[in-house]
Amino acid sequence: MKILVTGGAGFMGSDFVRYWVKKYPKDQMIVLDKLTYAGNLENLDPVYGFANFKFVRGDIADEKLVNKVMKGVETVVHFAAESHVDRSIINPMPFFTTNVMGTLNLLNAALKNKVKRFHHISTDEVFGSLPLHSKEKFIESTPYAPNSPYSASKAGADHLIRAFYKTYGLPITISNSSNNVGPYQFPEKFIPLTISNALENKQIPIYGDGLYVRDWLYVEDHTSAVETIIKKGKIGEAYLVSTGNEKANIDVVKKVLDILNKDHSLINFVKDRPAHDRRYALDGSKIKKQLGWKPKWDNLNKALKETVKWYKENTAWRQRVRSKEYLDYYKKQYAKR
Ligand code: NAD
Ligand code: TYD
Repeated sequence: MKILVTGGAGFMGSDFVRYWVKKYPKDQMIVLDKLTYAGNLENLDPVYGFANFKFVRGDIADEKLVNKVMKGVETVVHFAAESHVDRSIINPMPFFTTNVMGTLNLLNAALKNKVKRFHHISTDEVFGSLPLHSKEKFIESTPYAPNSPYSASKAGADHLIRAFYKTYGLPITISNSSNNVGPYQFPEKFIPLTISNALENKQIPIYGDGLYVRDWLYVEDHTSAVETIIKKGKIGEAYLVSTGNEKANIDVVKKVLDILNKDHSLINFVKDRPAHDRRYALDGSKIKKQLGWKPKWDNLNKALKETVKWYKENTAWRQRVRSKEYLDYYKKQYAKR
């Protein structure tokens, strides 16, 4: 099988690529990635040089290039996106250029080239926010109610995917997963930022009261869920992916500090994010019941320990990925908070 992975040099995409290239040597994998600040070729070092792996640097919104790489492709796994909520608040435009227009460009090319499965990676954030202290969870049929420019752009992409299935019969599947945690995540996101700052004895910024809840999923479980959907997922369907690990941000930070033996005085409550979603929680039973997906990392403390260990052992990676662009962003994002 020829498989095209977009955004394969990012956090979740690279986990999928490292896994797939080694497990399926007979498949030909092409990774298409623009290498934005969030994409790092180093993330793909473990599979560089493998005969079944090819990397193409480019933009998913580039029509000519996308039509060229799509030739003969049977399966597309679409990870590429602008992915950070705070950046989408500063400047929504690149989110719509990549997440909506880039996705449309891929869909057109997939249709033209008669792709057999287009799997789209999406997020729980398209469903909006749940109240704290409730048992309510998102299900596949929960109405979309995005609150940030990021989640609005992802919702736009999801709607386009569905429209291409309904209108043109493009064979699609979608996964909406909860927040991922694990190695190789760019240190602007909450958990790697917390770990990096703690390791450097810097203050850890917590937005608002810190009682916002996220439903954490270890990235290797995300990869295995996507594998399951590609192999067994019903065309036209969406699947929520979660291991049900809800935790308040403040408790995540305390846990990380305890793992690292650091003092809780590093915690710094800062000004809240606008339209900050209070709680995400997903009912992940459909993929388990219908496709038999079994996660391996449902113990969040174990996942956090593994992640902290990786960041501790990969200081050089942490230093290298933080470009000048990132340092400027960090200054701007946290200076006035
Ligand atoms: P990431 O920011 O780490 O990686 C994104 C990758 O896409 C990078 O390698 C980047 O270079 C590439 N990219 C960006 N714009 C591109 C373009 N125009 N053309 C080609 N490549 C481009 O993101 P991630 O955290 O790995 O997320 C991957 C996907 O999963 C995204 O679609 C995101 O919305 C979704 N998602 C993320 C989470 C999470 O917790 N991180 C949770 C649910 C869903
Ligand atoms: P983030 O990793 O940006 O993911 P998302 O907003 O897509 O869920 O943030 C996770 C949670 O952590 C979210 O509630 C916002 C919060 N947060 C902080 O409290 N401080 C920070 O510096 C960042 C980046 C996030």
